[in-house]
Amino acid sequence: MDAGTCTSAVPLLEVDDLRVVFPTPRGMVKAVWGVSFQIQKGHMYGIVGESGCGKTATGRAILRLIPPPGKIVGGRILFRGENLMEKSEEEMRRVRGRSISMIFQDPAAALNPLFTIGQQITAIMKRHKVAHGEALRQRAEQLFEELGLPHSRDLLECYPHQLSGGMQQRVMIAMALCVESDLLIADEPTSCLDVTIQSQILDLLVRLQKQRGLAIMLITHDLGVVAETCERVAVFYLGRIVEQGAVSEVFRHPRHPYTQGLLAALPDPQRWGSPLKMIPGSVPTPLEAIPGCAFAPRCEFATDTCGNVEPQLVSVGDDHLAACFLYAADPGKGRGRA
Ligand SMILES: Nc1ncnc2c1ncn2[C@@H]1O[C@H](COP(=O)(O)OP(=O)(O)O)[C@@H](O)[C@H]1O
Ligand SMILES: [Mg+2]
Repeated sequence: MDAGTCTSAVPLLEVDDLRVVFPTPRGMVKAVWGVSFQIQKGHMYGIVGESGCGKTATGRAILRLIPPPGKIVGGRILFRGENLMEKSEEEMRRVRGRSISMIFQDPAAALNPLFTIGQQITAIMKRHKVAHGEALRQRAEQLFEELGLPHSRDLLECYPHQLSGGMQQRVMIAMALCVESDLLIADEPTSCLDVTIQSQILDLLVRLQKQRGLAIMLITHDLGVVAETCERVAVFYLGRIVEQGAVSEVFRHPRHPYTQGLLAALPDPQRWGSPLKMIPGSVPTPLEAIPGCAFAPRCEFATDTCGNVEPQLVSVGDDHLAACFLYAADPGKGRGRA
């Protein structure tokens, strides 16, 4: 059966109508507004969209790590059927790292400057009781080597500031992988690495996914990587999912003008030398309630309806949803499954 259509009784992760806001002096930023998706055990799920569309906030919300005064104001996050929103802070500490681990977008902010790399990575393994004694260092060194980090023994004695951005990022990845969690949230995991190391790390993630059934939520702006590695994808725009489904469907027949624009902006070897087609304009800050489709101001197909009524996700193909009036028979009424 096609991986994209495989639905077991209880998904590993189910995010349902998630809403996250950040109060700011300029008003309430609706960073995530009504996002729903599911990730099955052992699957790789891609989250794409331009900067500022709510990808990081979604990843952090799953672990209940939204930096205050930001907060989750609605929705459910079910992990193996249990609602993480109802867990105590102590229970969440056990979920973080042990069941769900995360590679953060900003490695410098996620590493503690006061402790060596060795102290930090062994503390994680001790806390979750995955190894002890000499095995702690061995396991760390082995992971560093798999991630292409040289002199792994010396690295354990280093403080974060002594490492380059690329090395910090790989140390972060090692910290997320040292405990064998069931779900890895990888937020732009290879953004400061060179191309060779990027593909080495993606190969490692795919291997872990296959070997130990690790599910991965891969947040990236690289649609090529999603096409190669993910079964399913969600396209984010301004805190909402505008298109989602099987990668084979969404990338072969993109329906939403935003997804079409993202794909058209990809470098195409056959058009090398000619300028890339860019989506006009940029992502606004989601401060005010937008009456209609958030993408309408940048959309070449926008009509009066688009400026007034918010489109809902509707089925546009086999295992494929899009939120766009080009496909809604009855504007504003059709509501597909998430
Ligand atoms: N700590 C914060 N305070 C205020 N606004 C924030 C904060 N973090 C994120 N935002 C806003 O929330 C929206 C979504 O941000 P984010 O989830 O980081 O997007 P992405 O990861 O897709 O680039 C953006 O408009 C961003 O400016
Ligand atoms: Mg981000």
